[in-house]
Amino acid sequence: VPFLDDLDTPSVVVDLDVLEANIGRMAAHAKESGVRLRPHAKTHKIPELARLQLAAGSTGISLAKIGEAEVFADAGIEDVFLAYPVVGAKKADRVLALSQRMRIAIGADSVAGAATIGDVFHAAGRRIEVLLKVDCGYHRVGVSPEAAVTTASRLAELPGIALRGVFTHAGHAYHASGRDEIDRIARTEGEILAQAAAEIRAAGIPVAEVSVGSTPTARGSMGVAGVTECRPGNYVYHDASQVSLGTCGLGDCAMTVLATVVSVPAPERAVLDCGSKTLSSDPLRPRGEGHGWILGRKSRLASLSEEHGVVRVEPGESFRVGERVRVLPNHACVVSNLHDRVVLARGDRVEGEWRVAARGRVR
Ligand SMILES: Cc1ncc(COP(=O)(O)O)c(C=O)c1O
Repeated sequence: VPFLDDLDTPSVVVDLDVLEANIGRMAAHAKESGVRLRPHAKTHKIPELARLQLAAGSTGISLAKIGEAEVFADAGIEDVFLAYPVVGAKKADRVLALSQRMRIAIGADSVAGAATIGDVFHAAGRRIEVLLKVDCGYHRVGVSPEAAVTTASRLAELPGIALRGVFTHAGHAYHASGRDEIDRIARTEGEILAQAAAEIRAAGIPVAEVSVGSTPTARGSMGVAGVTECRPGNYVYHDASQVSLGTCGLGDCAMTVLATVVSVPAPERAVLDCGSKTLSSDPLRPRGEGHGWILGRKSRLASLSEEHGVVRVEPGESFRVGERVRVLPNHACVVSNLHDRVVLARGDRVEGEWRVAARGRVR
């Protein structure tokens, strides 16, 4: 299939020129800041894309699920951090098996949770590298900064555990009111974590890695003294939320969904063949209505059902049945999880496709 016009819809399209520029730019920021880059590959779930990130200088990748790490191990990726509190004996067996095939570390924010993995490694005469999650204000998981030293000391003493460092994720940046607030959150993200690392070291426990990162805060947090690693994920694709947050411009968005207008039942309403099965129902960040933007139009997707994307047609615009449009999704990472393949393009020329090999790995 040589051109986008020849593709059936809905299709997820990744523009390689934009993708490569995004990978290069973040790699350059990390190099300038003197930190290691460990991109979160949950955004794309594609080993070939991870290889581009590694070729650009990343030290390894981050993932959330053991099933994702298994797919990446099969593809020959050698260094993974599961940036998630991994808990449970069933999971420990799989992490142990993975540790024979790759360098792997896990996140933890409790002694009880880490012990479920450490016990299995200890019984096997091995140790799993752990990073302690510290809450820098998102209030999702992670110990409070005040509890970091106590938890780190207890983790460091657990059998089967080797404490590698600390990590945090400023997910609250997605709710920020503007660039100034994002910059403030980014600085705080770096400072809270660097401070926690300093206090843990003062207690006599080595901290090799101080790992921050989200896409909106990456540039700011990686520049804070004491930070050693950054884990942005979404930056490879970007999406309507990143544009709304001011993280990037429309031209920096690599992922779009090619869709067809299947119905125009009223002048103010048009329906696309991409619903929540294609786009997910994730909201626009930091706030705002709708379920995706249509490139080149002011009209937006106002509501979704599974198979239907309903466009509220703005005055002065019109759509015709059979017409094809490009939709910029609210959130690129969740779109990846819904599709077996992404089509690779440069402009309107199709260059191939990648299998989203680690999609749907919920365990
Ligand atoms: C723990 C962790 N680290 C890093 C990231 C990457 O952040 P972003 O998607 O903003 O690039 C995420 C994303 O959810 C995350 O949960």
